[in-house]
Amino acid sequence: MLITQCQQADVALLEEHLPSPSRTSFHAQRFARQGVGTSTYLVAWLADRPVANAEIRWNGCAATEVRQAVPNCPEINGLSVTEPLRGGGIGTALIRHAERLAVERGVQRIGLGVDDDGNPRAAALYARLGYRPVVRYLDRWSYTAHDGEVHDIEDPCVFLAKELTSAPTPDLGVRVQ
Ligand SMILES: CC(C)(COP(=O)(O)OP(=O)(O)OC[C@H]1O[C@@H](n2cnc3c(N)ncnc32)[C@H](O)[C@@H]1OP(=O)(O)O)[C@@H](O)C(=O)NCCC(=O)NCCS
Repeated sequence: MLITQCQQADVALLEEHLPSPSRTSFHAQRFARQGVGTSTYLVAWLADRPVANAEIRWNGCAATEVRQAVPNCPEINGLSVTEPLRGGGIGTALIRHAERLAVERGVQRIGLGVDDDGNPRAAALYARLGYRPVVRYLDRWSYTAHDGEVHDIEDPCVFLAKELTSAPTPDLGVRVQ
């Protein structure tokens, strides 16, 4: 498995293999943020096919309450692995890759949000990787459905953060071939 930074040509491939669930292309939005330098959009590949993605938002979580509670804490956002390959270590590899990039930038901590009580398996993974709860917040986002209707969403979430050491996190490898 290879992890790369998203390129323009990858956006269409991501949309083909990991389609946004709406008319709004989340991949295009993340790539645009990378273009203005506020994000790094990571893509995991297996045999020329994108199988997972994660965005590092260098300015931190969009929610003001999180940025106030944990200033200067970039966020890993939009972490998703294609369904048949979940449980094979790809999510872990993406998180570790994001942590290494953060350490290279001199960042001292990194965080991510998880549904409050709605995603216990993801929460268990993040806890195992050293992420600890910091603050509850409302994750506010919107999307345009295929019928053109705009939906504004408010998801109760918990922001988890991890202190990073200057030693690079070892890559423990992935179980997927
Ligand atoms: C959460 C997610 C990114 C983890 O990536 P992954 O490659 O499946 O995770 P890994 O293989 O590195 O680690 C496995 C652990 O992930 C967690 N996990 C969460 N959802 C899982 C799923 N649907 N299938 C398998 N593992 C999942 C479990 O803790 C699992 O450990 P376990 O097998 O001991 O229960 C991925 O499962 C996914 O895309 N889920 C759906 C979208 C999502 O919930 N995104 C996170 C939003 S906060």
